Amino acid sequence: MKLYLAPMEGLADESLRRVLTALSRYDLAVSEFVRVSTTVLPQRAFFRISPELGNGGRTRAGTPVQVQLMGSDPQMMARNAARLVQWSPAGVDLNFGCPAPLVNRHRGGAVLLDEPETLHAVAAAVRAAMPLGGPPLSAKMRLGVKDPRRAVECAQALADGGIERLVVHARTKLDGYRPPAHWPWVARIAEAVRIPVVANGEVWTVADWQRCRSESGVADVMLGRGAVVDPFLARDIRAARQWEAGDPRAGDWAALVPEIAAFWADVRGRLAPRHAPGRLKQWLNLLRRRFAQAEALYQCVRPVNDARQIDALLVARGIHPAARAA
Ligand SMILES: Cc1cc2nc3c(=O)[nH]c(=O)nc-3n(C[C@H](O)[C@H](O)[C@H](O)COP(=O)(O)O)c2cc1C
Repeated sequence: MKLYLAPMEGLADESLRRVLTALSRYDLAVSEFVRVSTTVLPQRAFFRISPELGNGGRTRAGTPVQVQLMGSDPQMMARNAARLVQWSPAGVDLNFGCPAPLVNRHRGGAVLLDEPETLHAVAAAVRAAMPLGGPPLSAKMRLGVKDPRRAVECAQALADGGIERLVVHARTKLDGYRPPAHWPWVARIAEAVRIPVVANGEVWTVADWQRCRSESGVADVMLGRGAVVDPFLARDIRAARQWEAGDPRAGDWAALVPEIAAFWADVRGRLAPRHAPGRLKQWLNLLRRRFAQAEALYQCVRPVNDARQIDALLVARGIHPAARAA
C-alpha cells in the first residue's frame, strides 16, 4: 500500500510539500508541472519548480519528489527530460491531466487524451532519452476529454510507450473537479495494463480511501486536496484509523501550529511581500474545513494584505517560526 502526494500547481509548492511530507509519511510526492514548449529549459526552470533537486530529489523530511513535465512535442519533452535527469530527480512524470484552457490551447495536459498516438509518442521519446536504470518514468492522466471512452486506449498507449507507473485522476477534463471521481474506471484501466496503477480523486477521509481502494481495486492512492485540507490524512490512513466527525483533534492542531508558522516564514522568505499573504490564506481556507481552530485564524488574517501585519498577528497569537520543533 503506497500513498502519493499529488502535484498541485499554485498550491502544493515546495513550502507546502515540505510541511505536508513532514506531518504525514508519503512514499512519493510529485512537483507542480514544468511547462515544455519550444526550448530546452535552463537549470533554473527545473529548480524553481522543484528546489528539492538541490536536496537529492527529496523534501526535507526525506520524501522523494518526482518532477512533472507537461507538453506535447515528443522531441522537446525528451530533450528536457534528458536534461532534467542530470539532477537525479526521484522520477520524471508526464502530465496528461491539466484541464486549464490556456495550457490546453497550447496542446498540453488533458486535451491530449483525444490523441492516444501523441501520448504514446511522448512517452516513447522520453523513455528513449532517459538512461536505463535511472529515475523511473511515470504519467498522470484523466479519464478523457469529454467522456471516458478512450481511457483504456490512452493508458495502454502510455504503458506501451514505456512508462513504469500510471496515476489515474478518475474524472474527465469536462468533469473538472466536480465530484464524484469514477473509481471503477481505475479498475478497468488497471486490468488492461501491466504496470502499477494509482487511483486519484476525491479522497478526503479515511473512509473515502477505503472506498476508493475497494472500487478501484488498486492498492496505491494519490492524495490531492484532501492532503492539504487535512495534513494528517495520510498518517491516519496508514494507521487505518477512522477520523470521527466532530473530533477537534486538539493534539493535531497543536502539532500543526508550528508548521503553519514555518510555512509562513518560508513563503515570506521566497515570495514578494504582496504575494505571501495569499498563500497563507489559501492554506488556512482549506484547513478550516477540518480544523475548527483554523477558522478563527483564517478570519483574522483574511482582511489583511500587509505581510508585516500578518507577522504581528501570528506572533500575537503565539504562532512564531521559532516555535517549530527541531
Ligand atoms: C490547485 C490544483 C493544482 C493542480 N495542479 C496539477 C499539476 O500541476 N499537475 C497535475 O498532474 N495535476 C494537478 N492537479 C490535479 C491533482 O494532482 C489531482 O489529480 C486532483 O486534484 C484530484 O485529486 P483530489 O480530488 O484528491 O484533489 C491540480 C489540482 C489542483 C486542485
